[in-house]
Amino acid sequence: MIKRIGVLTSGGDCSGLNAAIRAITLHAIQHYDCEVFGILKGTSGLIRRPMEYIPLTLSNCDQSMLRSAGTILGSTTKENPFFFPSDDGLKSDRSDDAIAGYHDLKLDAIIAIGGDGSMRINSKLAKKGGMNLVCIPKTIDNDLAQTDFSIGYSTAVSVATEALDRLQPTAASHQRVMILEVMGRDAGHIALSAGIAGGADVILIPEIPYNLESICQHVQNISASGRNFSLIIVSEAVKTQGGDSVLRGTSYNDRPRYGGISQYLCAELEARIQADTRFTVLGHVQRGGQPNAQDRILATAFGVKAVDMVFEKNFGKMVIWRNNQVEAVPIESTIDTYNEVDPKGILIKTAKAMGIYVGELG
Ligand code: F6P
Repeated sequence: MIKRIGVLTSGGDCSGLNAAIRAITLHAIQHYDCEVFGILKGTSGLIRRPMEYIPLTLSNCDQSMLRSAGTILGSTTKENPFFFPSDDGLKSDRSDDAIAGYHDLKLDAIIAIGGDGSMRINSKLAKKGGMNLVCIPKTIDNDLAQTDFSIGYSTAVSVATEALDRLQPTAASHQRVMILEVMGRDAGHIALSAGIAGGADVILIPEIPYNLESICQHVQNISASGRNFSLIIVSEAVKTQGGDSVLRGTSYNDRPRYGGISQYLCAELEARIQADTRFTVLGHVQRGGQPNAQDRILATAFGVKAVDMVFEKNFGKMVIWRNNQVEAVPIESTIDTYNEVDPKGILIKTAKAMGIYVGELG
């Protein structure tokens, strides 16, 4: 008998997490008469003593959860249960404590909402046993394998598109080249989709190499045709023409912290064609703000499916959105591959047909 389930969010936050938490809570209580506990700060809430959790109810999961960004449960990117940091700065395997916490709380299952890093951890926990897990994908990067969309991606694309909407009039007023740098880690989905939606003239993504001379020529052609401004969108992990990553500060969890490629491009364009150029780094605004309708719907559908899977005892799986259906796949099948932009895919074809420079494949 499933009587009590836990919900947690881990990894970088995004818009739509609270909508998923609400859907899980409402469906579990209304349809299955089940208790729901929200575990705070990912699995850390199960590891710390006293444990950190809150009861989730119909009243603390009202409609306002659909509209709010962030996660009411908190999240972490630094507290991997297998390398858990302690006060002395050392890291140790605390996964047994997480499993003990799960049993102490008398949980029958956990629904874990996370990105690719979290899925790696969840897959290890599922293999270790002692915890019934169902996962829900979230990431603005949309780089998780198997699912067409993850929670948070659509809102991030909307935010980046709106940034281009705002940059275009000022670009036109001042006859400038505007460069917008967006997140996405090693996948160019946000840049490609927002670039098409926001009318970029140049879209640079990590999956396709580019040539600075070609970009300059493209900008000059636009200018010669009578349009006095250009819009460029670049994904944060795009490298310099020489092949160097542009990083900001130190990396953690073996992951680089990208940032600054727009500044590099700005300097190159100014030096090469004396274009009046400005750059904007959009940063974490892409992860906040009201989730758009698409993310609210996706999060709600994922939440409902995840709860149904718990009651079907269909554990060790992640829900996915594929061809307008919500399905489920083994967690480990989501961690070996990476969902990057297909350079031969429909969106690249569409961008090229619009006359957008998208780089050059060798
Ligand atoms: O994975 C989501 C993401 O927002 C990436 O797009 C970005 O590179 C990274 O997280 C930023 O991480 P942090 O919030 O740790 O700076």
